[in-house]
Amino acid sequence: MLIKIPASGECRESEVTTEAAYLSRRQILGGVMLSGAAAGLPALAKASERYPGVTSAPAPKWFADKLASARWQAVVPDGEAITPFADASQYNNFYEFGPNKGDPARHASTLKVEPWSVLIDGEVDQPGRYALEELCSESRLQERIYRLRCVEAWSMVIPWLGFPLADLIRKAQPHSSAKFIRFETAYRSEEMRGTRSGFGLIDWPYIEGLRMDEAMHPLTLLAVGMYGRTLPNQNGAPLRLVVPWKYGFKSIKSIVRISFVREQPITTWQSMAPQEYGFYANVNPKVSHPRWSQARERRLPGSLFSTNLRDTQLFNGYAEQVAGLYSSMDLSKDY
Ligand code: MTE
Repeated sequence: MLIKIPASGECRESEVTTEAAYLSRRQILGGVMLSGAAAGLPALAKASERYPGVTSAPAPKWFADKLASARWQAVVPDGEAITPFADASQYNNFYEFGPNKGDPARHASTLKVEPWSVLIDGEVDQPGRYALEELCSESRLQERIYRLRCVEAWSMVIPWLGFPLADLIRKAQPHSSAKFIRFETAYRSEEMRGTRSGFGLIDWPYIEGLRMDEAMHPLTLLAVGMYGRTLPNQNGAPLRLVVPWKYGFKSIKSIVRISFVREQPITTWQSMAPQEYGFYANVNPKVSHPRWSQARERRLPGSLFSTNLRDTQLFNGYAEQVAGLYSSMDLSKDY
C-alpha cells in the first residue's frame, strides 16, 4: 500500500514533526535523504528541500501561501521509488499539444494558465464561474503519492499536491438528481497546437467523467501541483484530476468546466473506441485491452539493461479502498 489517508483534513504540528522524523530515517524521494529534517529544520521544510533538483516554477501567491501549510505524505516503504521529476514531466500524454510523448513538454508552455477559472454548472445549488484560488480557498493542500498506470501499460509513481474532489463537490452543493460529474479541458486552438494539427481523431474538448460515489471517494484528488511545486503545463496545469485506481486517461488535465449531470457523460476515449476504452477504466490485470495484455506494466524510467516490468495490480493496488464501489458489477463487462 502506498498511501495512508488522514482520517480528517486536520493535522496538528506535532503529527507533522513525527512525519519528519519518519522521513529522516528512511531513504525516500527516489533515493534522496530529506536532509532538512535530519538537520532538525521544521517539518514544513520548503518543497525545494523535499525535492532537491526539481525546478521550482514561479507560483501564484495563493499557491505559495497554501504550500506553507501543506500536509506532506510520508512514503510507506514497500519497494517503490518515486519517479524522477524529469521523467514525469517529459514523458506525457496531452494530445492537445501533439501525439508524441515529448510534444507536451515541448509545446505546452503556450497555454496561459493564469488567471484561471472553472465553470461549475448543472444540478447544483452553487453554480458559477470560480477563480481557481477561490475553488481551493477552504482546502488545505495535501501531498498524495500515487501510482499512475496508463492504459498503454507503463506506470509511474508521482507525488501530487492537491485537495479532495469531495471538498469541491460539497462547496457546489449538488442536488440528489446529480448522479455523475462531467469534466472538460480547455480548448484553445491558438494556445494548443495539437488541436489545430493533423491529429484529427479527437473531437475537442477532451471530456471525462466519474460516477458520484467515485468522485466523492477520498482517494480522488484535484491536483494543483506535483513534486512540491505547481503543475508543469504538460502535466495539466493549473488543475487536473487524479483517480489513482483508474487508467491515466481518466485523469483529465487543465480543467475549465465541472458539470453535475443526471446521465453518464460521453467521454473522449470511450466515444472514439468504445470496444477499447470503457467509461469505468478501472486498472485490471485480468481484462486485456483488445490489442494488448494488461497483466504487466513497464515502470518508468527503464534503462538499456532493464525494462523494469512488474505485475499490474487490480485497481492499481488500491483495491482495499475502492473495490466496494464495484461489488455489484461485472468488471469484464463494465471495463
Ligand atoms: N487530459 C487531456 N486533456 N488530454 C490528454 O490527452 N491524456 C490522458 C490524461 N489526461 C490526456 C489527459 C492520459 S492518456 C494519461 S496516461 C495521463 O493524462 C497522463 O498524465 P501525465 O502526462 O501527467 O503523466
